[in-house]
Amino acid sequence: MAEENRKLEPFQNPKGLHDILPGDHEFHTFVKKVVRHRARQAGFRRITTPVLEYTDVFKRSIGESSDIVSKEMYTFQDRKGRSLTMKPEGTAGVVRSYIQNGMNQWPQPVMLYYFEPHFRYDRPQKGRYRQFWQYGFEIIGESDPALDAQLILLAHRINQDLGVDKVVNLQLNTIGTAESRAKYMQALQDYYAGKERSLCEDCKARLAKNTLRLLDCKQEDCRILAELAPVMKDYLDKESAEFHEELKGYLEEVGIEFVENPRLVRGLDYYSKTVFEFWDKTDGEQNAIGGGGRYDGLIELMGGQPTPAVGFAAGVERIIANMKREKIRVPSKDDLHVFVAQLGKEAKRKCLPLIQELHEAGVKTMGALGKGSINEQLRIANKFRVDYTVLIGITEVREGTAIIRDMSKGQQQTVKMNKVVDKLVKLLGEKKLDRYTPGELLYS
Ligand code: HAM
Repeated sequence: MAEENRKLEPFQNPKGLHDILPGDHEFHTFVKKVVRHRARQAGFRRITTPVLEYTDVFKRSIGESSDIVSKEMYTFQDRKGRSLTMKPEGTAGVVRSYIQNGMNQWPQPVMLYYFEPHFRYDRPQKGRYRQFWQYGFEIIGESDPALDAQLILLAHRINQDLGVDKVVNLQLNTIGTAESRAKYMQALQDYYAGKERSLCEDCKARLAKNTLRLLDCKQEDCRILAELAPVMKDYLDKESAEFHEELKGYLEEVGIEFVENPRLVRGLDYYSKTVFEFWDKTDGEQNAIGGGGRYDGLIELMGGQPTPAVGFAAGVERIIANMKREKIRVPSKDDLHVFVAQLGKEAKRKCLPLIQELHEAGVKTMGALGKGSINEQLRIANKFRVDYTVLIGITEVREGTAIIRDMSKGQQQTVKMNKVVDKLVKLLGEKKLDRYTPGELLYS
């Protein structure tokens, strides 16, 4: 009896992996559409690489000593004993695919974008999940600072479209070529020699192989030491320095503000020259909404011909969190355009045909045909966040007019009743109209 009545424990999702519920899907879909639109505009084509790759794809590209490879990958053996890993980021798979599919024979540069889930066994916290979505762009096959600028501009435009450009700032640095970086790492190792005791456990381990990461450690003591450490600029080769100056010139030309950050190094090993991140102004580097840079040596390292490349990826959840904080409203096909409010029996009689006419004209309209007061009706109009409200009261009925109120500007105008539909159609603009043609409905 006790056994039969025992309530089964409901399942929970694994820690750090989340459902995307319908409310969030509106945001997801909007971000995806903005990314797709901007990508198409600039000539990027979409690529989807598998969720699983052979583990070595990530080991060799991101680097064995990076945090991602050393402690954050979901790695397992398949039934034949091969080591597979769920992709923790997008660039390595794209580069594998570029080489495997002979994309160096395509017109260069090859410009690709993706919108995909990624997996890192990170410590779950605000803005840090074990499954998260990224959109990313890769330009492979050409080296010019103008391409780096184009990519940064693209990321900035997307931030603008999504309403998060004001809440982030662009951090920019150059980490030079592999040769100048090796010299700089040696200088860092010399600087840290004898100071090991002041470093956190992670940094002690990073010192030999992942020295650059000591510069962006968040621990207090490590930070203080990093402040006084040698800076890359003093070890930079001439070519990288010129490349960086040119890039800054382009960014200034297109009016993109940036913060020069000599300690920005990124957490993946494949970068050379340009590195950048968009930091959330409230959380700083803890919650970068996106980052990227140039990876001129990666294609060769992965078995291809020496090929320059630059790329960028952003975290969709972090962007959505910012959009919500900024109260950005996502446009939806279900949005209403017009609300018709009325006062009095006569006015209500005028409403019904007006609503029908607006529907026929493709204007998504709702009317308050119940008994609510005018204030109550306006409250509903506000709730539905319509663009315009049409008000018909006793005076308007007598004079054969209606009031059209622009809800965002709070301005209103009186219009002849027989001109209301035309006026609203004009105000809304052709693009917003949703005309119903039964034959076409199937394909819409
Ligand atoms: P990343 O900086 O490792 O770069 O990741 C890019 C963005 O993904 C981050 O700025 C962040 O918004 C988001 N992200 C990373 N980890 C998490 C997490 N655990 N939870 C939520 N969001 C996260 C890359 O992945 C490079 N592949 C970017 C790139 C493309 N470089 C060249 N091409």
